[in-house]
Amino acid sequence: MRTALITGASRGIGRAVALSLAASGFGLTVSSRRDEDLVELAAELRAAGAPRVAHRASDLTDLDSLPPLAEAHERAFGAMSVLVLNAGMAAKGAVDTFPLRRFERTLTVNLTSQFVLTAAALPLLRRGAAADPEHGARVVAVSSLTGRYAEPGLAAYAASKAALTSFVETLNLDEAASGVTASAILPGYVDTDMTAGLEGVAAETMIRVGDVVTVVDMLVRLSRHASITAIPVSRSLSGGYRA
Ligand SMILES: NC(=O)c1ccc[n+]([C@@H]2O[C@H](COP(=O)([O-])OP(=O)(O)OC[C@H]3O[C@@H](n4cnc5c(N)ncnc54)[C@H](OP(=O)(O)O)[C@@H]3O)[C@@H](O)[C@H]2O)c1
Repeated sequence: MRTALITGASRGIGRAVALSLAASGFGLTVSSRRDEDLVELAAELRAAGAPRVAHRASDLTDLDSLPPLAEAHERAFGAMSVLVLNAGMAAKGAVDTFPLRRFERTLTVNLTSQFVLTAAALPLLRRGAAADPEHGARVVAVSSLTGRYAEPGLAAYAASKAALTSFVETLNLDEAASGVTASAILPGYVDTDMTAGLEGVAAETMIRVGDVVTVVDMLVRLSRHASITAIPVSRSLSGGYRA
């Protein structure tokens, strides 16, 4: 059985990715901040086809909660095929008035926690790769197009996501020999809770959650011999170089 750990699985992109991997027969560990959301989600994932579902609440601002999340997956499955680094937070504001604490929180949630969780999961991913020589194991990070092409007011968020993309690219280089590949998806604006009420971009022009799911599905189907480090996905009306 292939298995995946998905953060930010309660809503939006993470939830849709979890449902899709469940339908593909993955054993799943899902996480977000509230246990009650995860209990309900776990039942839905089982109904959607996941042979086994583990869940553990974890807040990405609490870095000590992340190794136990990887351990929960290890207890349930012993190894990991796919790590989906999806949970993240939005942050908008001018540089000169952006509170330092908020900047640090943005970096902790969108970057440091991803590094810490990946480090904790790597032994499991290497084990998963050894057990599945065709697919190997793969880290998929939901980064952002704003980390590549600047978007007004998003200096903190974009910097955190640019660093996340860079982290994934080096991880891919470092781990390829162990069969672990890593990919960052860089979406522009996607129609989720995160973009609700965003001024200037109509929801109906946004990328659909299902589009991001399709990219994740493609990545997890690749063999270990193919690596795609970064996949930009822009809104069709943005011209390709804006979120
Ligand atoms: N929507 C977009 O336009 C867009 C574009 C590019 C990239 N992205 C990225 O895509 C990812 C998913 O976003 P989304 O649009 O699906 O947003 P969403 O619908 O708001 O969902 C965010 C998810 O992240 C979790 N999360 C947020 N803060 C957390 C924290 N401190 N600790 C643990 N979990 C936390 C939430 O869990 P709770 O239920 O606990 O809140 C939720 O499951 C994010 O990394 C985001 O930056 C989004």
